[in-house]
Amino acid sequence: MSVHKVKIGVIGAGSISDMHLQAYEKQKDVELVAICDLNEQRANEKARQYGIGQVYTDYTELLANPEIEAVSICTWNNTHAEIGIAALRAGKHVLVEKPLCRTVEEAHRIEEAVKASGKLLQVGFVRRYDANAQLVKRFIDKGELGEVYYAKASCIRRLGNPGGWFADTERSGGGPLIDIGVHVIDLCWYMMGRPKPVSVSGNVYHKLGNRANVQNLSFYKAADYDAGFNTVEDMANALIRFENGASLLVDVSFTLHAKKDEITVKLYGDKGGAELEPEVVFVTEAHDTILNVAPQTDSKSINVPNAFCNEINHFVSCCQSGDQPISPVEDGLNMMKMLCGIYESAAKGQEIRL
Ligand SMILES: NC(=O)c1ccc[n+]([C@@H]2O[C@H](COP(=O)([O-])OP(=O)(O)OC[C@H]3O[C@@H](n4cnc5c(N)ncnc54)[C@H](O)[C@@H]3O)[C@@H](O)[C@H]2O)c1
Repeated sequence: MSVHKVKIGVIGAGSISDMHLQAYEKQKDVELVAICDLNEQRANEKARQYGIGQVYTDYTELLANPEIEAVSICTWNNTHAEIGIAALRAGKHVLVEKPLCRTVEEAHRIEEAVKASGKLLQVGFVRRYDANAQLVKRFIDKGELGEVYYAKASCIRRLGNPGGWFADTERSGGGPLIDIGVHVIDLCWYMMGRPKPVSVSGNVYHKLGNRANVQNLSFYKAADYDAGFNTVEDMANALIRFENGASLLVDVSFTLHAKKDEITVKLYGDKGGAELEPEVVFVTEAHDTILNVAPQTDSKSINVPNAFCNEINHFVSCCQSGDQPISPVEDGLNMMKMLCGIYESAAKGQEIRL
């Protein structure tokens, strides 16, 4: 059976848009129709690079184009709710970058717009789409780890505040917790079977600033990098409790006096354990012996471009079939409850019931 080509518009032509554009470009079932950015020059450059015919600086004009069926939203976090809701109302399917938005209230409004529109919304929890993540999920779903009752995640940058809007709480919603914590918290939560979060206890620290003085180390930067402005936390940690008794411990930083950058994602069940980062491995027991079992895969940790390709392929296939994505709006909403609960807990200095 032949399937139709999905006509795509990309809103936001900054750093991460390349991952979307490259993945769409490889997809034979896609036609990249339009691109939009407030910064016209940036949008024009991307249009030239990827052979895109239509360039907009106002996303409402892009959305008014009836030819476009689906959009990727790759803009600042403070625009995700506004643009996402407008896109759904204009009858477009939506792939929105993480985090879904900045607040629980915004997340509820997006969820209502999804329901009212009948269109699909996929949250860009890209780590779920990595081949190793899908492999570990298959093992967990088959019961290999038994009941997963504890998870531990860490994403420590010793120097890596991307600056620009990332460093502006008003536009980002927060610092490393909402920017990179969202990835590792989501991955653990997805692997644990998405249990209902019931309480969080968190701390955030504003101790080191963005350390723009440091030389000789490079890091990811927003398209409009500005070292002179920073209102977000340097680091955060949290304990999340779930209704089924499971718990998740996490710590993340944009900067910390740590010896090196570190990313760990670890899951512990009553029959076995698994680690996704820094290297994929299973831990089990057989014949009174503990075994570390290393699955043989192309990449020991996440392959970012491949994970984006899988995410985009999944989005396109859901647009064609009408199937629900594996990272639906409900998961984005639950994630906002956890993240905002952690910020609230840190501000009040006490545990928060969700
Ligand atoms: N999945 C991942 O691993 C990953 C990695 C980096 C960033 N992100 C997410 O992607 C999004 C963008 O991040 P980035 O690093 O590309 O930032 P960026 O600053 O490099 O690019 C954002 C672009 O959005 C444009 N923009 C902002 N508001 C707009 C509007 N109303 N209309 C049109 N254009 C608008 C800006 O001009 C800018 O060019 C953020 O939500 C971020 O959290 C995800």
